[in-house]
Amino acid sequence: MWREAYADNMPADFLEGLDPVKAAERWRLRFEMDEPDGVVVVATGRDGEIVGLASAGPTRDGDSLTDWELYSINVLAAHHGSGVADQLITAAVADRPATLWVVRDNPRADAFYRRHGFSVEGATKIHEGSGATEIRMIRNMAGAAN
Ligand SMILES: CC(C)(COP(=O)(O)OP(=O)(O)OC[C@H]1O[C@@H](n2cnc3c(N)ncnc32)[C@H](O)[C@@H]1OP(=O)(O)O)[C@@H](O)C(=O)NCCC(=O)NCCS
Repeated sequence: MWREAYADNMPADFLEGLDPVKAAERWRLRFEMDEPDGVVVVATGRDGEIVGLASAGPTRDGDSLTDWELYSINVLAAHHGSGVADQLITAAVADRPATLWVVRDNPRADAFYRRHGFSVEGATKIHEGSGATEIRMIRNMAGAAN
């Protein structure tokens, strides 16, 4: 999913080096050990194949203005614009105040998050591994400009 999603934003050698088995194990450990209160939502297609994933849970940022964070959302390109992503974000975040980190220069994700009430908050960081710049977005805080 990452290879398809981030071909424009992350270096090819980083994406080619991703190992799906190790990634699955990292997800399992992360949610069992580090984020026991987190949620993972899976969207499946007609034949039971996974077409989208979202994860969320308590914020990982010490300086966050919200308690809840959308950790990730990914939908296969064939299902973009289908409403799957809307269902995933609704299941993972509902109407809670929340933050998220998104790779900068991702206009589709930016438009999607803005439609769901998020706006750019100001914090930035470098994504470990790929070196891509990420920006933080926030929703439902007093004074936030949408
Ligand atoms: C981000 C993601 C979950 C959104 O799901 P989606 O089904 O594509 O989203 P939608 O089609 O409902 O909404 C996308 C919006 O972007 C708009 N859009 C599409 N391409 C665009 C572009 N190049 N520039 C600006 N807006 C664009 C669409 O018109 C739509 O606008 P609308 O909400 O006003 O109708 C999905 O695109 C995805 O998985 N992308 C790859 C992974 C990723 O970027 N994840 C999030 C960052 S970590």
